[in-house]
Amino acid sequence: MNALTLTNTAWSTNEHAFPGKGTMDEKLRFLLNYAILAPSLQNTQPWKFAVRGDEIRVLADTLRWMPVTDPDQRELYISVGCALTNLLVAATHFGFRYEVHYFPQDDDKLWVATVKFIDQNHTMTLADRELFYAIPQRHTNRQVYLNKAVSERDLQEIRNAVDDPNVSLFLSDSIEVKRRVDQLQVQADFTQFADPHYRDELAYWMNQGALNPSWLISRVGQMAVTYLNMGSSTTQKDAELLASAPLVGVLSTAENGHFHQVKAGEVFEHIALAGTGLRMGIQPMSQLLQVPALKAEVGALTSTPELEPQFIFRIGYAEPAAGYTPRHQLESVLA
Ligand SMILES: Cc1cc2nc3c(=O)[nH]c(=O)nc-3n(C[C@H](O)[C@H](O)[C@H](O)COP(=O)(O)O)c2cc1C
Repeated sequence: MNALTLTNTAWSTNEHAFPGKGTMDEKLRFLLNYAILAPSLQNTQPWKFAVRGDEIRVLADTLRWMPVTDPDQRELYISVGCALTNLLVAATHFGFRYEVHYFPQDDDKLWVATVKFIDQNHTMTLADRELFYAIPQRHTNRQVYLNKAVSERDLQEIRNAVDDPNVSLFLSDSIEVKRRVDQLQVQADFTQFADPHYRDELAYWMNQGALNPSWLISRVGQMAVTYLNMGSSTTQKDAELLASAPLVGVLSTAENGHFHQVKAGEVFEHIALAGTGLRMGIQPMSQLLQVPALKAEVGALTSTPELEPQFIFRIGYAEPAAGYTPRHQLESVLA
């Protein structure tokens, strides 16, 4: 990864700069300004794009893989899925109709998808617009969330964002589930930070300057808070958990291949965009699924323990996240 290419400019992409009278190549490249605003594991941005005629090829970039943290590349492919959602939401906004072909070459696991653009005759809905405008507003929110239960209507909107038969969403506001998640998180943090290879990998990526320091602060803060509270008032702890995470969500799939991981990423980003439009914060809590011994425990918390847990996050109303993370310049992710 080349830290020199990091910039904040993609966050201020102006939709009016869309080259409506330009070539197909110029239009498709413009859409990629939105794709790269997607979340990714430690902001590694493990994606590449190739614009070819009326197609965009979406590729996984294993040079930006974190082998210690993510040995099976689950989160790398989830990240690529997030970028794919942004790309499709932006395409819809600019009127494109498209077809997506996943893993078009059986023997090429890096070639994740080809998006073939058919025409620009799509009639936009209000929901399409809201998702699009959420792209530059969405940031991982690591703050304490507001102590306000999520309304039925908003809950339904979050559920509606899961529009994919390959992925199921478990959402819980149960104190027991949250308390268990909290315990597992601490176990995961201790396991990971005890591993020198993990620390080295983390240090490398933090040095690249792509990761907002709030990530580390929230991890270490989590451990400290839980430890300080141990043995003291559990009521206080419950209140804290409720206040800071009204809902815990787990995305699961029937299988665990890269296709299903991409799908989980697509759905996660849909939820994140829908939640952003509803003034919600969202934060992945990946460490729970990065420690193999804890993965089954996460699955067991859900109503579908037979499925493969792919992603876990908290979501709730929140003040907007402060600041944003940089992105690699578009040119550096074009293949
Ligand atoms: C697969 C994946 C795993 C992530 N894991 C965590 C996590 O465990 N904790 C966290 O605070 N953020 C996590 N994030 C959020 C990223 O750190 C964040 O997307 C990235 O730093 C870019 O910042 P942004 O989301 O604000 O644009 C994850 C994101 C993805 C896509």
